Amino acid sequence: MSIDKKFLNLFIKVTEKAAIGASKFIGKKDKIAADKGAVDPMRRELNKINMEGTVVIGEGEMDEAPMLYIGEKLGSLNGPKFDIAVDPLEGTKFTANGEPNAFSVLAISEKGGLLSAPDTYMEKIVIGANLPKNLMDLDNGVEKNIKILSEAKNKRVSELNACVLKRPRHDHIVEALNKMNVKINYITDGDIAGALSVIGDNPKNDIYYSTGGAPEGVVVAAALSCYGGQIQGRLVLNDEEKVRAKKLGITDYKRKYNIDDMVKGDVIFCATGVTSGDLAKGVKDLGNEFEVNTFALHKSRKIVKSVTNIYNK
Ligand code: FBP
Repeated sequence: MSIDKKFLNLFIKVTEKAAIGASKFIGKKDKIAADKGAVDPMRRELNKINMEGTVVIGEGEMDEAPMLYIGEKLGSLNGPKFDIAVDPLEGTKFTANGEPNAFSVLAISEKGGLLSAPDTYMEKIVIGANLPKNLMDLDNGVEKNIKILSEAKNKRVSELNACVLKRPRHDHIVEALNKMNVKINYITDGDIAGALSVIGDNPKNDIYYSTGGAPEGVVVAAALSCYGGQIQGRLVLNDEEKVRAKKLGITDYKRKYNIDDMVKGDVIFCATGVTSGDLAKGVKDLGNEFEVNTFALHKSRKIVKSVTNIYNK
């Protein structure tokens, strides 16, 4: 089974409207308002679609968030059943500070196709397409993974580029990469774009190696699955988070999730730029209109495209 083609444009409209909502808060130094600016229109647009959607990755777990919480039903409830992963505003800090790489994003699968992950951290290793399946293993450690990758890509270790989220918790990763002379491209936030920098025709990075949000990990997995890219992730859970994870059906807290454990079947992925970045251009205020740009994927139809649309204010 695959997702009917008519849904791609409907979901593009959802992230477009969310991005326009968030764009009103660019540079306003208010992360919470910017997020809300995206959440409200995203939910409104999702509810217009003839589908029975269930949020599996959202703004909060179960009914802890006022809207777009895990388990929330969306759409007319008349139509196909979908799992929906939303990140209405990826890069709240970027938006608040008027910096690049903020976007509104969602991923859709058929029911049961996306892992419902708690809002905790996830260790992640991400690599691009055309590599042997399940090549990376978190338990190998940095050095062994880099050696394996360099052999598989037929590149010298010193020719590899790694993307790392700049956080003290990654000091050991940075140290190992430096020792091996791997070039590091740091990001300060926004690990969806960081992780997706390993795909495309001329990818900037060979590997993304960091711990970021688990919800972001599943969204990344959805996009990667359209390219044949790979991710391995493992939740990082303290005792309180284990209780939350259990509520979502997770019992093996140390499980390593490969891409097939996070995403199954057909996928639609849309990311609309709020501020300009690697995936899409930011919202342009043209006076009476907004111009929006979306990076869109539909796995079963092998669609990878950049779409620009105009909305009247
Ligand atoms: P938000 O835009 O939702 O705040 O997330 C930004 C982000 O950088 C994610 O991309 C990343 O997964 C996570 O935060 C990293 O968390 P932390 O800032 O706690 O290290």
